[in-house]
Amino acid sequence: RDPELDASYEANELAAKFYHYLLNNSAQGQEAKAYLIERGLNGRLIDEFTIGFAPESWDTLSRFLQSRGYEPELLEKAGLLSAKNDGSGHVDRFRARIMFPIRAKDGKICGFAGRVMDDSKPKYLNTPETKLFAKSKLLYQLHSARAVFRKKRSAVLFEGYMDVIKAWSAGVKNGIAAMGTALTDDHAALLSREVDEVILCYDGDDAGQAAAMKSIPILEKVGLKALIAILPKGMDPDEHITRFGAETFIREVMEHPVSVTKFKLLYSRRNHTLLGEEGRRNYVMEAVGIVAELDSRTEQEIYLKELSREFELSLESLKQDCHGIWSERQKSRPDRDKNDISWNNGRNET
Ligand code: CTP
Ligand code: MN
Ligand code: MN
Ligand code: MN
Ligand code: MN
Repeated sequence: RDPELDASYEANELAAKFYHYLLNNSAQGQEAKAYLIERGLNGRLIDEFTIGFAPESWDTLSRFLQSRGYEPELLEKAGLLSAKNDGSGHVDRFRARIMFPIRAKDGKICGFAGRVMDDSKPKYLNTPETKLFAKSKLLYQLHSARAVFRKKRSAVLFEGYMDVIKAWSAGVKNGIAAMGTALTDDHAALLSREVDEVILCYDGDDAGQAAAMKSIPILEKVGLKALIAILPKGMDPDEHITRFGAETFIREVMEHPVSVTKFKLLYSRRNHTLLGEEGRRNYVMEAVGIVAELDSRTEQEIYLKELSREFELSLESLKQDCHGIWSERQKSRPDRDKNDISWNNGRNET
């Protein structure tokens, strides 16, 4: 037991309650609440996620917590106060921001993400890396999604806090998000203990799609099956739900995730102009390379047939090229040591 750590958790818990109180009961908080309602949340969701408001002030939280007996030095270590540059004391770290408490996997509040209500930067400010708050190991809402993981053996990974919250209200109770960082090996390992598959539901912009491409191998490395839910171009899950409603989101996005191969083909397509001869050829060759990553000939054939139909090419020649690439890769693959989890897809056949 570490008394300082315990006190830091308590301070964060108390801060969350205070921010939540201020959202509901202060004059400045009314504006913040109106902002959240405008974005499609309601009082029930605000309570459920203990969303709060940090006022535009240098010392509102500091004075409140010090009146409860917490020293500024401890509050700094807890990530709630920042030391002034000249060393003359501390100020509230979060000012004029909507506050989303972040819980560790046991449910204890270990930090916050604070969002501005306008276009100023940074859009989200997080608790700094502290003993409690290690971004590479935290997943937003993991503590509550875990109950569903056990039943469904499936997780839905979003990019942002609002995506998780809105999807939750639409019925997706196994949604989580990384804390504004790329998915890490630690995140993947954490998930692999609780689920068998992860549905990536990232933003429909270039950044989101590129992030999904990067997350796929990280998940596959620990033996998780990845699937990808596709959003319309440029839209994120939060916007989709606000615009089209919960039912449409579930029906059109969540219920039809595509396979990794399909996603890679769609991703490659975005980068080629299929109107010209050159673009078509480049896409087909890249596509054959993607299909060649599959080890099952039957699965390969499913995708090759589609290519053959669309581009009016013989299935035979596509197969030949595909198998050629596949065999080449086998040769250059590292020794298929049975301890190499990337080879047996992470599952040890014991
Ligand atoms: N993020 C961050 N810091 C930023 C911008 C983004 O930590 N300055 C993280 C947040 O976790 C955010 C996620 O990256 O939720 C995705 O970024 P983005 O899509 O830009 O934000 P949204 O989640 O869509 O935020 P909002 O809907 O509130 O605009
Ligand atoms: Mn984004
Ligand atoms: Mn987004
Ligand atoms: Mn955005
Ligand atoms: Mn958004």
